[in-house]
Amino acid sequence: MFNSYGRYHWYLIPLAIVVLSQLPLASTSSSKTSEMESSVYTNSTLILEALLKGYDRRIRPDVKGTPQKVRVDMYVANIWAMEEVKMEFTIDIYLRQYWRDERLSFAHLTSDPILTLSSNINKQIWIPSTYFLNTKRAYMHDVTTENYLLQIRPNGSIFYSIRLTITTSCMLNLRKFPHDTQRCTLALESYGYQTSDVWYAWNDRNDNTSAIFVNKAVELPQFELVGVDKTSVINQYNIGNHSSLIATFKMRRRIGYFLIDTYVPSTIIVIISWISFWISPESAPARVALGITTVLTMTTLISSARASLPKVSYVKAIDWYLLLCLIFVFGSIMEYTFVAFILNIMKTKKKKREAALEERDWSTCSKASYNHDRIESGECPSLFAPKCSPKRGNRLTRLCHKKEKDELPEVDLKTLGDKMEERHWFPIQDPITVDRISRIGFPLTFFAFNCIYWLIHKTE
Ligand SMILES: *[C@@H]1O[C@H](CO)[C@@H](O)[C@H](O)[C@H]1NC(C)=O
Ligand SMILES: *[C@@H]1O[C@H](CO)[C@@H](O)[C@H](O)[C@H]1NC(C)=O
Ligand SMILES: *[C@@H]1O[C@H](CO)[C@@H](O)[C@H](O)[C@H]1NC(C)=O
Ligand SMILES: *[C@@H]1O[C@H](CO)[C@@H](O)[C@H](O)[C@H]1NC(C)=O
Repeated sequence: MFNSYGRYHWYLIPLAIVVLSQLPLASTSSSKTSEMESSVYTNSTLILEALLKGYDRRIRPDVKGTPQKVRVDMYVANIWAMEEVKMEFTIDIYLRQYWRDERLSFAHLTSDPILTLSSNINKQIWIPSTYFLNTKRAYMHDVTTENYLLQIRPNGSIFYSIRLTITTSCMLNLRKFPHDTQRCTLALESYGYQTSDVWYAWNDRNDNTSAIFVNKAVELPQFELVGVDKTSVINQYNIGNHSSLIATFKMRRRIGYFLIDTYVPSTIIVIISWISFWISPESAPARVALGITTVLTMTTLISSARASLPKVSYVKAIDWYLLLCLIFVFGSIMEYTFVAFILNIMKTKKKKREAALEERDWSTCSKASYNHDRIESGECPSLFAPKCSPKRGNRLTRLCHKKEKDELPEVDLKTLGDKMEERHWFPIQDPITVDRISRIGFPLTFFAFNCIYWLIHKTE
C-alpha cells in the first residue's frame, strides 16, 4: 500500500514542477503576441484610415496636373474556341493595371514595403475606367470572392489585377478557309477619361513580349496561336480623343480536322466515281447507281462542311475544292451518259441498217427472177448477192459468199459513205474507247487540279 503510494508520488513530482513552471510563462507569452497582433492590426487600420481620410475616389490622381499614365499588361490564361457562325471568340485574362496615386503613398507612416488590400477597397479608391471595345459579353469572376488583387507600394504605386472572361467579336475573313490565319483583337480604352486625363501604355518590363503573356498550355482545338501583336492608338471621336491599347491575336487554323472531315472523304468519293469506267457500258443500272450515289454523297458532304460556317456571300477555298469534286463526280455521270448515247446510236443505226437491208433483201431477193440453176453456175446477182445471204437460207449464202469478196457491190459503197459521215460527227465510235480515255483522263486532270489547289494554299 505505502509502496504503491510512494511510486505514484515519484511520478507526480516532476510533472507538477513542469506544469507549475510552465503556467506563468505561457500566460505571459500569449498576452504579448496578442498585444503585438492588435498593434499590427491597429497600425494597418490606422494607416488605411490615415490614407483614406479626406480621399475622394471620384477625382483622379494628380488632377489638373499631367495626364495619368496607366500601364497595362495581361496574362492570357485561356483562349476558348472561336465561334465562326457568330464571329466571336472568348478569352480568359488576368488584366493588370499599374498607376500611381500620390495620395496613397504611405512611406511616411510605416516601413512596410507593400500594402495588400481587399474587401471592396476598389470601391474606396480611384480606379481607371477601363472597358473593352467590341465585347459581346464580359464578366469578372466572383467565386468565391471577387477575383482581384490590389497592392499599394510606399511611394503610391498601385497594382490592380482582375480576372475577366471576355467574349469579343472578331471579323473573320473566310476566303481562304480552312487555310486561313485569323486576327482577332482585344482592345481596351478608357471610358470615363480622355487623353487629357488618362492615357494607357503597355507595361513592357524588360522586353517586348512581356506585356502580353500567353499561358504556354493554351491549346485551341482548331487554331494555333502564331503570335500576339500589341499597339497603342488614340481613337478620335467627335467628343474627344480616347487612349486605347490593342492586342492582336494571330491564329492559324489547323488543317488536320478538315483533312479528315472533308478533304479525304471527298477525294475518296471522286475516286469511287471512277470505278464506273471499268464497268461494262452495257450494265446501265450499275453505272447509273454508282454515279447518282457519289453525287448525292458529295452533296451531303458539301452541306455538312458548310453547316458550321457563317453564310458568307463569297466563295471559300473549301467550297472551291468541294465544287471541283462535285464537278468530277458529275463528270463521270456525264461520261456514262455520253457512252450510253453512243451505244444507243450505234445500236439503232445497226438495227436500222439491218432492218433496211433485210427489207431490201427480202423484196429484191424474193422478187429476183434468178433461178437456182444460174446461181449454181456461179452467176450471183452482184447487186444483192452479199445481203441476200443470212436470211435466204444456207444454200444461197454459200453460193453468193464467194462473189462478195471479188466485187464491191453498190449497196456496200453506200453504207460505207454513211459510216464516213458518222465518223465525221462522232470521232469516237466505240464506247469502250471513251471509257479507256476517261480511265486516264479523269485521274490526271483531278491530280492536276489538286496540285494547283494545294500549291495555291500551301504558303498560307
Ligand atoms: C505602428 O506604427 C508606429 C508608427 O505609427 C511604428 O512606430 C510602430 O513600429 C508600428 N508597430 C508595428 C508593430 O508595426
Ligand atoms: C515606386 O516603388 C516601386 C517599388 O516599391 C518601384 O518599382 C517604382 O518604380 C516606384 N515608382 C516611382 C514612380 O518611383
Ligand atoms: C520592341 O519593339 C520595337 C518596335 O516593334 C522594336 O523597335 C524594338 O527593337 C523591340 N525591342 C525588343 C527588346 O525586342
Ligand atoms: C485629337 O487628336 C488630334 C490629333 O492628334 C488633334 O488634332 C485633336 O485636336 C485632338 N482632339 C482633342 C479634342 O483633343
